Amino acid sequence: MLILKQFTTLVATTCIELLVQSVNAALPDPRWGHAAVLLRNNLYIYGGKVGLTREADLNDTSQNSNQLLMLNVSDSFSVSDPGWMTRFVGPNVAYHTLSIGGSQNELLVLYGGEYANSTDEQILENPLFYYNTLNSSSVWDNAGLSLGTPRMSHTAVTKLDKSINYFFGGIPNVSNSLISSQVQFQDLFKLDTKNNLWSLQSTDPNTPSGRFHHTATILSDGKMYVIGGYSKDELVDMSQIYVYDTINAKWDVQTAGGKLPTARRAHVAVGTHDGKVIIHGGVNINYNVLYGDVAVLDTTQSQFVWSIKETKGAVPPARYSHTATMVGTNMLIAFGYLANDVSDNNIYVLDTTTFTWKENYTPNNLDYTNTIPHSGVSQEPSSSKAGTIAGSVIGVISFFLLIGGLFLFYRRRKRNAFYAAPYSSTGEQPSNQDKSKKFSISSGSTAVEELPRLSMSSGLAVPMAGTSKNGAHGKDYSTILEERMMDSDVQQSNFLIVPKSPLRVTNPDNN
Ligand SMILES: *[C@@H]1O[C@H](CO)[C@@H](O)[C@H](O)[C@H]1NC(C)=O
Ligand SMILES: *[C@@H]1O[C@H](CO)[C@@H](O)[C@H](O)[C@H]1NC(C)=O
Ligand SMILES: *[C@@H]1O[C@H](CO)[C@@H](O)[C@H](O)[C@H]1NC(C)=O
Ligand SMILES: *[C@@H]1O[C@H](CO)[C@@H](O)[C@H](O)[C@H]1NC(C)=O
Ligand SMILES: *[C@@H]1O[C@H](CO)[C@@H](O)[C@H](O)[C@H]1NC(C)=O
Repeated sequence: MLILKQFTTLVATTCIELLVQSVNAALPDPRWGHAAVLLRNNLYIYGGKVGLTREADLNDTSQNSNQLLMLNVSDSFSVSDPGWMTRFVGPNVAYHTLSIGGSQNELLVLYGGEYANSTDEQILENPLFYYNTLNSSSVWDNAGLSLGTPRMSHTAVTKLDKSINYFFGGIPNVSNSLISSQVQFQDLFKLDTKNNLWSLQSTDPNTPSGRFHHTATILSDGKMYVIGGYSKDELVDMSQIYVYDTINAKWDVQTAGGKLPTARRAHVAVGTHDGKVIIHGGVNINYNVLYGDVAVLDTTQSQFVWSIKETKGAVPPARYSHTATMVGTNMLIAFGYLANDVSDNNIYVLDTTTFTWKENYTPNNLDYTNTIPHSGVSQEPSSSKAGTIAGSVIGVISFFLLIGGLFLFYRRRKRNAFYAAPYSSTGEQPSNQDKSKKFSISSGSTAVEELPRLSMSSGLAVPMAGTSKNGAHGKDYSTILEERMMDSDVQQSNFLIVPKSPLRVTNPDNN
């Protein structure tokens, strides 16, 4: 009884601490080339470029961030002070993707990207990580799957009902490939996160050419819509919409009509509950024209139709390599690269029912973007009751996991308090030398072809954008790998990066 009481007190104290932290949270560092995903009504953002200028950043990959930002979108907030929660955990990466996995869609899935420096290069062998959001002291666990040739500036989408991810396109992890290499991937990978299996989908006559800086968005029809980007030596025509049907495992290409947006890359896209894809921003081929417009592709017509939207309210400046996340009927734009060596640390909220930019976010129609699997029991679309029950069971389990997590979190805080590095506004990444790491080399990959599934739920896009001209990866990769294998730590089965500190906030004094 006494233990229970102490436990309750601990939980209460921790809850109050969390509350205080979120109230005090300042804006994070400006960045671009990060990735974002909505999971259980929390917006997660990870990584990106946090240098001062684009040029300096391209020459210095050690400025890639390992900051995990979290924003609870169940509550209203002012866009000028959203109340970010943050912690620093895992690899320093940019131009990666974040998507969703796990049997209850509880995992953040991090795939690919450009890693900070040679210390992290061994990750390139297995650049797939899982982060359990139900455990407040989580680390990024290496999934131990070698998912194709390492890549960046690709896209990821999640089919939420099966926790299945599709990764498409990108360029090699060699940072200067944008200028020097013609290699652009047209691979489409399928990752079953429940069973930790992946497969390379076969190509067909409609498979799009290799590309990067495109967007991919999955809608509730189970189809992934690929828009824009850079292919061969040019921007992709915005009338050419490539559609991957995840049910029949087939590509199709459609020619869209209406008022076409300008061809672009490094733009962002979200899907609506009613069959539309909304795009925003991007940049032209030479990086000298930035876009800040909003366009809508209606996929419900027999011929797809584009329209350009006049938006109301305070229109955010043009940008690229930002993120957009659909949250109910609000489109949340985060950060991005602006003109003249300036990047942004603000969030912008577009109400897509009125196409108005809002100063205050209010949760609207959050059920449209609910990420909890609709039914863990039945394949029937009519099994809403089973879904509800599964949902509440999951709710109860998450509650206990959360309480358990908070308890552990509190204990870790107590024990590891001296680990917490003081916040600094630019050099926030804990040094790699201080991280306790365990390396592993995967023995191989498993390819499994699955039968098409019938039931479907709404999905969300994780657009991914960015480019880099100059890598800091001097050393030959196989040499590094050999060196690592000499190390006794290599025998471990997981690659672990122990977090330096628990959830904490940016220090307003340093802003
Ligand atoms: C970055 O590298 C490029 C190519 O090597 C060089 O032209 C440019 O001056 C460098 N920029 C900075 C800020 O160091
Ligand atoms: C988000 O906010 C809602 C409403 O205040 C709350 O019920 C929920 O527990 C919060 N979620 C997290 C992860 O803190
Ligand atoms: C949470 O994650 C940490 C680090 O991976 C792990 O040690 C701990 O056992 C996890 N806790 C739960 C409740 O899963
Ligand atoms: C990219 O990954 C491959 C491993 O497949 C490695 O050989 C290569 O050196 C990496 N490139 C860079 C720049 O790290
Ligand atoms: C790798 O980057 C980290 C910071 O991101 C830095 O502390 C470390 O010294 C770098 N290591 C090398 C070998 O460049």
